[in-house]
Amino acid sequence: MKNVQQAIEQILPQLQTYLHESRGGALGAVALPPLRELAERLSVRQWIEQGGMDEPQLRDFLQAFLPASTKLHAPGFLAHQTCASSTGGTIGALVDGLINNPMNIYEMGPATAAIEYVLINWMLEHCGWQPAPWPRDRRPDDHSGAGVLTHGGSLGNLTALLAARTHEAPDAWENGVPDDLVVLATPQSHYSVARSCGLLGLGRRQIEALAVDERGVIRPEALPQQIARLREQGRRIMAVVANACSTAAGLFDPLRPIGEICREQGVWLHVDAAHGGAFLLHPELRQRLDGLELADSMIWDAHKMMQTPPLCTAVLLRQARYLDQAFEQEASYLFHEKRQPGFDFMHRTVECTRAGQALKLFFTLAEKGPRALAEDLAYTVDLAHQAWAWFEQQADFHCPVEPEANILCFEHVGSDPIAVRDALIEEGAFHLSTTIYQGKRWLRLVVMHRNTTLETIRQLAARIRALGSP
Ligand SMILES: Cc1ncc(COP(=O)(O)O)c(C=O)c1O
Repeated sequence: MKNVQQAIEQILPQLQTYLHESRGGALGAVALPPLRELAERLSVRQWIEQGGMDEPQLRDFLQAFLPASTKLHAPGFLAHQTCASSTGGTIGALVDGLINNPMNIYEMGPATAAIEYVLINWMLEHCGWQPAPWPRDRRPDDHSGAGVLTHGGSLGNLTALLAARTHEAPDAWENGVPDDLVVLATPQSHYSVARSCGLLGLGRRQIEALAVDERGVIRPEALPQQIARLREQGRRIMAVVANACSTAAGLFDPLRPIGEICREQGVWLHVDAAHGGAFLLHPELRQRLDGLELADSMIWDAHKMMQTPPLCTAVLLRQARYLDQAFEQEASYLFHEKRQPGFDFMHRTVECTRAGQALKLFFTLAEKGPRALAEDLAYTVDLAHQAWAWFEQQADFHCPVEPEANILCFEHVGSDPIAVRDALIEEGAFHLSTTIYQGKRWLRLVVMHRNTTLETIRQLAARIRALGSP
């Protein structure tokens, strides 16, 4: 390939056609040929070893590659909480790829770092927390919030829980993890919460299940007693983790009463809002996170409900110092006295080299603006609710719980959900996931964009019925 302009000009019409046909559903949503067959069809090994791909070959390659991608823009793509990228986000990914400014230290990407700094402050304000001062104006105080972008919600939960550990057991970094720490989470919490606890040196015994109601949502009234019992046992509560919303069924824990109790008891509250963070942008949907300002940390994935290409998670803290002290390490070539006109994020992240993730979110916002993003989100939430109401009217479909987000669990009565999903994937027009909710496996759909309509859901139901009871 001779230069970027020629290469892009060569493939742009192809990409535009892909987008158009994906949106209309002409390409289906998913196709899963065997990996070996695919690798051979794409001549992957040959290209790796020989190089030399020119523009026409690039076009031919994409001709084979694009049909074998999963079409996230398709009406029938309903499987996972991964968005169809906005035009702005796509441009952000392109610019980031081209300039390659891994800006964890300011000198490696001042413009991208400046964008991340402002984005983080904007998100902190949406949480009801104080933004950080401009780096050279004054030092952050106990009221200043802080944040950083990480490569995904899993790493985000790990980072926030590390900050919680720093709060409760500041010497753990130096001396190892005490065995009296305990994290309270629900069975509905994303698996990355338990995984983070493992990575932070807490054993499974140190994760306690929070009391929940029949929907799996935290019962705040049980929390004071649970905290008191654990303290009587001589245990220290590192964090309570609440969901906004849960991954399986998209349900929100009641943050205000949980937050009030945590404040009263001096317990760190972490809110996993990887999925629901974007609800803060909508005047009505933000009520689902009412009380968030009482929490100590939260994560918010832009690559889920903000049309931003992956990965772009904000880890946000009410008080900067716990994030700033979380990773206490020396690396003499990076952390040293220097003229500092900007801000280094390095001391807040697991990653050393870090992509310019802020660009993808920034250009998405710069293109659409928060209001239009929020309206798109509201469309998906509303459609999931309409789908629920429609399924509930059908004799042969059933939903275990009314949705609060754009995630819906349902069943075709008498069918095996895994077999239904496999058969649909085989056909290709609809891509669903399945999940365990309240001890039972369900079909699960996530409405991600406006290309999906109620008619799509009716067509999906018709296909499921036509499959019989696989
Ligand atoms: C509630 C919640 N937290 C965390 C994650 C993990 O995010 P990521 O996939 O970006 O690592 C997910 C992903 O689905 C999630 O739903």
